[in-house]
Formats: sequence, C-alpha cells, structure tokens
Amino acid sequence: MTEFQGAAAVSGGDLASDVTDETDPERRDPERARLRRLRGRARMTAQLACMTSDVPEAGTFRVELEGPSGTVEVAVVRDEDGALHAISDICSHGAVSLSDGEVEGCTVECWLHGSRFDLRTGEPLGPPAVRPVPVYPLTVDGERVLVDVDGAA
Ligand code: FES
Repeated sequence: MTEFQGAAAVSGGDLASDVTDETDPERRDPERARLRRLRGRARMTAQLACMTSDVPEAGTFRVELEGPSGTVEVAVVRDEDGALHAISDICSHGAVSLSDGEVEGCTVECWLHGSRFDLRTGEPLGPPAVRPVPVYPLTVDGERVLVDVDGAA
C-alpha cells in the first residue's frame, strides 16, 4: 500500500500506464512485437502431415488437414531426387486423387487423363488440365513433415 501511494504521488496520473510502459514489449519495440506475432501465427498454421518415412521414394502420401474453410486434401509427394512437396490432392481437371498418380521427375501424373503437374508450381504441363493445383509450403522438422495449407501458392 505504501508503494502504490508513493507511485501515484510521483506520477500524478495513470499508474497502470506507467507500469505497463516498462514491461510491455509492444510499447518498448512495436516492430519487434509485430514480427513476433507474425512468426507465431505462421507457426500455428503449419500442421503435422506425416512422417518422412510415410512417403515412399518417387511416391505419394495422401493426408487430410484442417484449412480455414474445412478439410483440405493434400498429397505429400517425394520426387525422384528425394525432395518432398505438398500439393492439392485434387486434380484441377476432375475430382480425382493425384496421390493415385505416378511420380516422374518433379511431376505427378493424373491417373485419369494423364495431365502432369509440376510439384514446385502446381502448373499443368500438358492437357487436358489447364489450371494449376495449389502448392503448400512444406517443412521437415526431424522426421516430421509439416504443411501449411493456409499458405497455398
Ligand atoms: S481428371 Fe486429372 S487430367 Fe482429367
């Protein structure tokens, strides 16, 4: 009680704002606090999709993740060089699963009509598909494969 009375007497005003100025990182360095919030938000959107061992060489692994508007069907694909990619599992030409297709180089082929999709860009490399499929940011953390379905390209 003694401290409160003394502080109030010295500041002559809002004790709460005086105390907050010294401890609140937002007020000390707003830009750093903003970046920290953005990094935290980015971490929250990456979800565990599978383990690296779930994805065969030059093969696929289908997984359902939670997106902002509901379930997102994702194909985690290992290309022929061993790199992992995450793309929409739904072909842009028809509602079939790309994870049932063949991997060749850095592409996956739709099993129904044969369009190939670039795993880095999602672009179709030949007809009949003309629209790209979404590509999702993927990170590997040890054995864990994390996919951000909110960050589609
Ligand atoms: S359904 Fe995939 S190319 Fe037609």
